[in-house]
Amino acid sequence: MAEQNLYPPSREFASRAHIQSLDEHRRLCDKARQQPEEFWQELAERELHWFERWTKVFEWNPPFAQWFTGGKLNASYNCLDRHLSGPRKDKPAIVWEGEPGEERIISYAELHRMVCRFANVLKGRGLKAGDRAVIYMPMVPEAAAAMLACARLGVTHSVVFGGFSAEALKARIEDMGAKTVITADGGWRRGKIVELKAAVDEALTELEVRDVIVLRRTGHPVPMQAGRDYWWHELEQSVDDGCPAEPLDSEHPLFVLYTSGTTGKPKGIVHATAGYLLQTTLTMKWVFDLRDEDVFWCTADIGWVTGHSYVVYGPLSAGATVVMYEGAPDFPQFDRWWSIVERRRVSIFYTSPTAIRALLKQGDRWPEAHDLSSLRLLGSVGEPINPAAWEWYYRVIGKGRCPIVDTWWQTETGAILISAMPGAVPLKPGSATLPLPGVEAEVVDLNGNPVPRGEKGFLVIRRPWPSMLRTILNDPRRYEEQYWSRVRDSYFTGDAARQDEDGYFWILGRVDDVINVSGHRLSTMEVESALVRHPAVAEAAVVGKPDEITGQAVCAFVTLKAGRADHDGLAAELRQWVAHEIGSFAKPAEIRFTEALPKTRSGKIMRRLLREIVTSHAVTGDVTTLEDLSVVNRLAAQHDEE
Ligand code: PRX
Repeated sequence: MAEQNLYPPSREFASRAHIQSLDEHRRLCDKARQQPEEFWQELAERELHWFERWTKVFEWNPPFAQWFTGGKLNASYNCLDRHLSGPRKDKPAIVWEGEPGEERIISYAELHRMVCRFANVLKGRGLKAGDRAVIYMPMVPEAAAAMLACARLGVTHSVVFGGFSAEALKARIEDMGAKTVITADGGWRRGKIVELKAAVDEALTELEVRDVIVLRRTGHPVPMQAGRDYWWHELEQSVDDGCPAEPLDSEHPLFVLYTSGTTGKPKGIVHATAGYLLQTTLTMKWVFDLRDEDVFWCTADIGWVTGHSYVVYGPLSAGATVVMYEGAPDFPQFDRWWSIVERRRVSIFYTSPTAIRALLKQGDRWPEAHDLSSLRLLGSVGEPINPAAWEWYYRVIGKGRCPIVDTWWQTETGAILISAMPGAVPLKPGSATLPLPGVEAEVVDLNGNPVPRGEKGFLVIRRPWPSMLRTILNDPRRYEEQYWSRVRDSYFTGDAARQDEDGYFWILGRVDDVINVSGHRLSTMEVESALVRHPAVAEAAVVGKPDEITGQAVCAFVTLKAGRADHDGLAAELRQWVAHEIGSFAKPAEIRFTEALPKTRSGKIMRRLLREIVTSHAVTGDVTTLEDLSVVNRLAAQHDEE
């Protein structure tokens, strides 16, 4: 890697950072490798509050790991109560802005009260440790409070992103076996109401739950079903302000979060309390270099893992002031985010490359109209960041003063695993740089042998880490197959990567049938299954197509049942259909009707060829097993005509 592409930390930044030099970084990595028990034990003692100490630091019965076994703690207590005995009591925990412009500043003491009251509501409805609840809410402080109230009681939550459709919500409620759904009448997005309650009603037409608790957010009328639906504010009228935090086992499942895998069925990723909380808290210091005076803004929705780990659990456990914004970045105009940074004096800003590219496209005048001098650190997550977006982020947003931490991780990893420690590690635009201490990442071939530096291979993690997923809900076999069987004794990430001569990691994208659209994970099979449920569709094959803004876009090849002619109206109908089956963010950018799909002689769709058609417009690889080569030639020709 050429010297001019290295961005070492400035002396000023390094001198105040938690980790100040590469030597310190190396010492931590060495200690984690040589004495893992001591290493993690010291951190668990320092970073978390425990009701009871653990008896064992970790137990590893591949593929199942347990951390801090025998210990008792509570995530909600760690995020709230422990801050109340000192100056953080009156510090803003959440600084919230609604899309229409309302603001709320909620101190740690106030958030604690909100959470206790709502925990008492849940208790009053009969919920207790071991039960499960689904949260389907807009980005309002009550969404974080609902998560923390569940955590307080030991109720395992599953937050479903508000952009998911009723169908997707239903599948998640069902898989969770949840008896309680927490939602709102709606939320604001681009000046319109997102009809969350209506989606819950639709999801529950063939599914029974005991309670639906509805927050009044927009105030527009929604039907309430007697005996099932309850207003949050009405249930809250008769509860106390205090609710003790339940001492829970370290391994108690804190939450389940659904994510896309290679098949059509999303996986319920299970996270355990202690290990998850430890690594999310720790990365607030290691990666975001958090100090008490910082104002931290992660723009992710709480429905994604980034929102769980870096809007709620990590920053609140670390005692940060968190900015939370309900709506779209471009509403009412393209400077909404920059205006929030200016007005709230945001010092650490964390977002996705897709958002950066979309805002970059609007030109510099939007950020330049605002005072962004409060920023001191920038972060990127969810997809590789291309050099042009990196440069713009660095120069125009960070004014060349703020390091950019490019953070690699996954729903499954719980917390950031590969990232610069910004006071210690020189940056290279486009590289997530180095694994954090305790993370044994490697690039290997399918036999598990490391590939030489500079060569592409599979990214694996060699040993368990505290915040790793524990299993897939209701499907431990799939957990073993997906993550621990591809490469011996290693966690298989599903990503390709290469390491350069300095050992820096460059993430090259997924090696499976997962595509990454705007940093959102989608399974090609999930979209295909949605398409073939439409009465006009015979077969569908979905691939990711490179997109200037969203990284990848959904491109669907569709064959129709006899008697259906392809027409523009049908393409629009199918896009809408996918929005209905999964959510708007999964809508194909392009639908291409074709007479047949390229298949192997055994009948498997050759997605690789379709990928080549949409990326390079030509087919170069081996096509000897193709059943009908003319199909490919026709598809490629069709592309050239467009
Ligand atoms: O392909 C990698 C990509 O996002 C995938 C994980 O997606 P998800 O579970 O939805 O979590 C996203 C937010 C943590 C990974 O397998 N990915 C994530 N971060 C990066 C990335 N690709 C490149 N660079 C990153 N920094």
